[in-house]
Amino acid sequence: MEGSNKQSVDEPRQSSPAGLIIRQKEPTNLEMPFDKVDSYITPTELFYIRSHFPAPRIDVTDYQLRIKGAVRNPLALNYQELREMPSETRTATLECAGNSRVFLVPQVRGAQWELGAVGNAEWTGVPLRALLERAGLEDDACEVVLEGADRGTPAEEPIPPGPISYARSVPREKAIQPEVLIAYQMNGRHLSRDHGYPVRAIVPGHYGMASVKWLTRIQAVREPFQGYWQTSDYGYWDYLDGKPVRRALAEMKLKSVIARPRVYETLLPNRSYTVFGAAWAGETDVTEIAVSTDDGQTWAEAHFIDPARRHAWRRWKFDWLTPNQRGQYTLLARAKDANGTVQPDGHDPNFGTYVINHPLPIEVLVEDPSER
Ligand code: MTE
Repeated sequence: MEGSNKQSVDEPRQSSPAGLIIRQKEPTNLEMPFDKVDSYITPTELFYIRSHFPAPRIDVTDYQLRIKGAVRNPLALNYQELREMPSETRTATLECAGNSRVFLVPQVRGAQWELGAVGNAEWTGVPLRALLERAGLEDDACEVVLEGADRGTPAEEPIPPGPISYARSVPREKAIQPEVLIAYQMNGRHLSRDHGYPVRAIVPGHYGMASVKWLTRIQAVREPFQGYWQTSDYGYWDYLDGKPVRRALAEMKLKSVIARPRVYETLLPNRSYTVFGAAWAGETDVTEIAVSTDDGQTWAEAHFIDPARRHAWRRWKFDWLTPNQRGQYTLLARAKDANGTVQPDGHDPNFGTYVINHPLPIEVLVEDPSER
């Protein structure tokens, strides 16, 4: 091998995130230009990257995954041992809880994600529940804390007294579901370093913050975990007996997004144009999409391209005959799920700078450039 950089034999080449939009250079935060959605599975090089700290470099020969806390047999597995356990492959959509933040008016703090901090990939790994069974999860464990190898001091108040590692907990009921994976492959290849090489958690149906990358420790706990990304960040206001209480974000909310046309795209009058998008939900299925081309005054049904598969997005399309009348038109898409829930009309302020799942306006211009 040329060059002097030490690289473990197994470390994957970085997939090239060519064409992603930079939201933050370091740590790496990149989003997909959402109008590029073309396939059911998002190619790894187009999949958004959301990291709080610089990606750690982990040599797979030193890698250890420790499982401890409220378990009868604490254990440590090396990479090979993990690879030898029975594995599963599942398709799951990850969406960052702050996706589409740029649509909030007035502007709020945080990375100004447009539509593309979301992707749908195929993940391969060992079900977390198989590891918890092997370790003997105690009956009184209420949550499972997943901890990554990346460390640093968060920039947002309240700033912890020193560097901390990225950690999130998953409620016990979710942690033992078969879909929660301790994954080592994405789209049939080793994880890339930015996506968590060598091992990450995938918690389908929950916002992306639960899918801890560079996973090195799994700790079962008897008290709800109160870590930084559980309480200070990725929290929201709920109500208990009429009083506001903080809770940790978890399940993804129903959302449908228009990928094409793009904002302010110019379309020809009186032509057939196929509006295209994708929709996803947390622990249920998306069953209907309605599209409006007149800013919500009237709605018409769109058609699904993909079947309903729990935890994975469904692409959809809608054939629009563009109006004769030149001007600006606002397009919206609104999903309904199997429980009869529809997307809310506006952003719920109890979610702060997160959970932006109301129909997002895509303004387009209908005009004939030859008539300008
Ligand atoms: N895991 C670690 N260790 N560190 C992180 O900063 N970011 C989380 C999650 N897992 C993060 C992490 C967030 S906020 C999201 S949205 C997803 O990873 C993004 O996963 P991706 O970068 O593979 O798209």
